[in-house]
Amino acid sequence: MSDYEYLEKYLEPSKLAIGLERLKNGEPVQYIIGNVDFFDLNLNVNKNVLIPRFETEELVEKTLKYIAKYFSSTISILDIGTGSGCIALTLKKKLKNCIVDASDISIEALEVAKENAKKNHLEVNFINSDIFDNITKKYDCIISNPPYIAYDEEIMDIVKNNEPKQALYAKNNGLYFYEEILKYASNYLNKKSMIAFEIGHTQSEQIKNIALKYLPNAKIIIEKDLQLRNRFIFIFNN
Ligand SMILES: C[S@@+](CC[C@H](N)C(=O)[O-])C[C@H]1O[C@@H](n2cnc3c(N)ncnc32)[C@H](O)[C@@H]1O
Repeated sequence: MSDYEYLEKYLEPSKLAIGLERLKNGEPVQYIIGNVDFFDLNLNVNKNVLIPRFETEELVEKTLKYIAKYFSSTISILDIGTGSGCIALTLKKKLKNCIVDASDISIEALEVAKENAKKNHLEVNFINSDIFDNITKKYDCIISNPPYIAYDEEIMDIVKNNEPKQALYAKNNGLYFYEEILKYASNYLNKKSMIAFEIGHTQSEQIKNIALKYLPNAKIIIEKDLQLRNRFIFIFNN
């Protein structure tokens, strides 16, 4: 479906003219409509949150596969940089008995994530935190799709001009959040545990090396997205 058809389908006729103007001015159709489907959830989105991507649905799908294989009982999960709440809320929906905490540095993003929890009748505990600053528990699984674009990387105008900079860019060539999470992860993980990351498709070897620096005994699996690019990294501790 084209963006135009999308607007026609989802906007009330009285809002169509303004919607088309916004589309012409380069705004993503998801922000104009105000919501997006992710897995089997419908989530509100606005300019304070990243629009959930297909790759992130793949991250959740693969994580569910590993959780089923690796853990036998109810598990606890922390989603760092939850944005719209897409990862945390889908995991909570699929793994009914698990405990899910979700954090973000952005209070505005957390407001959207809380709305989405309410809208989808899901119970997730939201925490305003700069990475681990306000995290006090230990988890079986840490999952994150952190900002990973280097400041000098060229990206599409529609993304650069609309989505929150805080959700896109990271210092240290895009590797800052992986290094910070991996450096301190063992303080926030139970002994048998896993970390699941979405990554930039050129970053897999660097992130693998960072993981082995801080977690030398970990087993590491890199997985590809549907375009056959290295897009996910799973780190298992035992
Ligand atoms: C790439 S977006 C991912 C959003 C969502 N999880 C998704 O997959 O669509 C990264 C998120 O990390 C958050 N973030 C940025 N810096 C952070 C920090 N220092 N601590 C925690 N979250 C942060 C941003 O606000 C943003 O919501």
